Amino acid sequence: MTKEPVYVALGSNLGDRAAHLAYARARLAALPGTQVLRTSSVEETAPLGPVPQGPYLNQMSGTSSWASCTPSRWRGGASGASAGVRAPSISTSCVTARARRPGPIYCCRTPSSSTATSGCARSPSWTPPPPPPVADAPKPVTVATLLKMKEQGERIVVLTCYDALFARLLDAAGVDVLLVGDSVNQILAGAETTLSATLEQMIYHTKIVRRGSQRALVVCDMPFLSYQVSREEAIRNCGRVLAETGCHAVKLEGGQPMVETVRALVDVGIPVMGHLGLTPQSVHALGGYRIQGRDAETAERLKRDATALEAAGAFAIVLELVPAPLASQISKGLTIPTIGIGAGPACDGQVLALPDMLGLNEQFAAKFVKRYAALAADVREAVELYAAEVREGRYPGPEHSFPK
Ligand code: KIV
Repeated sequence: MTKEPVYVALGSNLGDRAAHLAYARARLAALPGTQVLRTSSVEETAPLGPVPQGPYLNQMSGTSSWASCTPSRWRGGASGASAGVRAPSISTSCVTARARRPGPIYCCRTPSSSTATSGCARSPSWTPPPPPPVADAPKPVTVATLLKMKEQGERIVVLTCYDALFARLLDAAGVDVLLVGDSVNQILAGAETTLSATLEQMIYHTKIVRRGSQRALVVCDMPFLSYQVSREEAIRNCGRVLAETGCHAVKLEGGQPMVETVRALVDVGIPVMGHLGLTPQSVHALGGYRIQGRDAETAERLKRDATALEAAGAFAIVLELVPAPLASQISKGLTIPTIGIGAGPACDGQVLALPDMLGLNEQFAAKFVKRYAALAADVREAVELYAAEVREGRYPGPEHSFPK
């Protein structure tokens, strides 16, 4: 039997509440086989439910113990409320460290006792509780998952991502693919085009995105000239990206001229996402950021390119700025998924640059971008408020300062 961390929530709304908490802490510390490792600050909370009663004082205590707890579900109240209505009481709850993951956990409380820890005390016939079921880690998205999603008509959600902070948020929100786009060079680094993005830059951003993600498939966008010069260089650079960042796949731009390179990469075990239509690394050759495949000839070429990339082993293709009916035809003609950006609703998935869809990147507006938030305005407002409070001496207040 091993000792494991147990977090105990203490709460009291009767009599001398602080004294009750102190008593509970002392009882906890005195339990055989238990060591109190740390305690939180004391927080006051309003009671829940219709029973008229006073506010609670709450505290968390982190202990190392073999606690005697009965299976229950943690409901989040620091003083262990179990049914929404709290009777005036001192209560405790024990939560093992593992229980912070979703799923059933172990918890115990004293419903209305003045001995805060009595519910956790061990009797001579104490037997260890069965280990709490550990919630399954989310199943990682793989290239096979994406192919299956296409087969089953399930839309694929893709966003660009450039750092661990947002990677954590997007991953937790269930985004299927995090694309570390070379758009980072424009959106975060302020460059005019993606052309000056470097391999080191892409490796850095991909590494930190990977650090923040658990479930999503992470794809690194290969920068200009890192894969076009020769197949050998493409293999070396893409291989380096996979090895050094921990990402799952690379993306590269171009149709027919890239087919042999895609095949060579796939042959050595590097999953490749293609990119057709408006390929930003060719912005000067294309004469600007314009819609591609509007005439019959370029439309036919795009279809041939897509089929050739699929035959070379690409696992998905981004279609950027392509008329919706053409993107629909291409998508229907492939067994691998298409991921559209400005390519209409018939693609198998959609991608947007994260700062664009969050309304953080106000410098960029395009018909295909839908803003789901207005974060630039929120940032401005928050920073102006902070600046005013600092200038007027209103921040920090006593609640943000340390008396001793
Ligand atoms: O660099 C990028 O962000 C991209 C996507 C917009 C597809 O290539």
